[in-house]
Amino acid sequence: MLNDTTQVTPSGGSTAWARTFAVIYDPFLWVGERTGLRTLREQLLSHARGLTVEIGGGTGLNLPYYPNDLDGLILVEPDVAMSSRLEKRLRGGSSPARVVDASAERLPFADGSVDTVVSTFVLCTVDAPDLALREIARVLRPDGQLLFIEHVRSDSPTLAYWQDRLAGPWRRFARGCRCNRATAELIVTCGLELEHVSETSWHAMPPILRPLIAGRACPAKTRG
Ligand SMILES: C[S@@+](CC[C@H](N)C(=O)[O-])C[C@H]1O[C@@H](n2cnc3c(N)ncnc32)[C@H](O)[C@@H]1O
Repeated sequence: MLNDTTQVTPSGGSTAWARTFAVIYDPFLWVGERTGLRTLREQLLSHARGLTVEIGGGTGLNLPYYPNDLDGLILVEPDVAMSSRLEKRLRGGSSPARVVDASAERLPFADGSVDTVVSTFVLCTVDAPDLALREIARVLRPDGQLLFIEHVRSDSPTLAYWQDRLAGPWRRFARGCRCNRATAELIVTCGLELEHVSETSWHAMPPILRPLIAGRACPAKTRG
């Protein structure tokens, strides 16, 4: 039980664990980044254009891969432990990006004002992914795009069973991350159309996190 002085962070859990998680985040991903994820991030982000908003920027692992000719790069990050590392990374580099304290469920941008939204390993963590996806659809211009890499629920019944079994402990360890979320299915029910999706595997990670999807979605065309 939490005592009166224990601080609770937006994703739940104590501030101490939030800080620890932010510190171990990059080392935990290190091997996976070097065995494929870095290349996947680079390929995906080469398609970013115009005014770009990254939700859940985390520690800033995507920063090296953004094109230089964006009209602007805004990193939305509600977790103080993560955003302080993000700010530190920005200070050490040349990116003109700025960090905004907001959540994906409530984006501080006007309707149809953003060209590209980026989400890498965030739709698994947001509390209300349906709200977040509708917000993304709202802020995107009609010709805008969502670029994503997400780990998802497995098509294999055996692995999906283990994802369900381990969802609780994993969520507590990983600050709200759901390892069994069917994110591709959610994207298409929340005002977006999948234009391209590739399925791949997150190497050097626990099996419950390995099924990955990467791709691009666009605001659904209203028929009339
Ligand atoms: C697993 S990390 C991914 C970080 C980074 N995008 C990456 O690719 O390494 C998930 C991030 O989403 C953030 N997050 C959690 N809930 C969020 C929300 N409701 N809106 C926006 N970001 C959120 C977390 O603070 C964390 O930085």
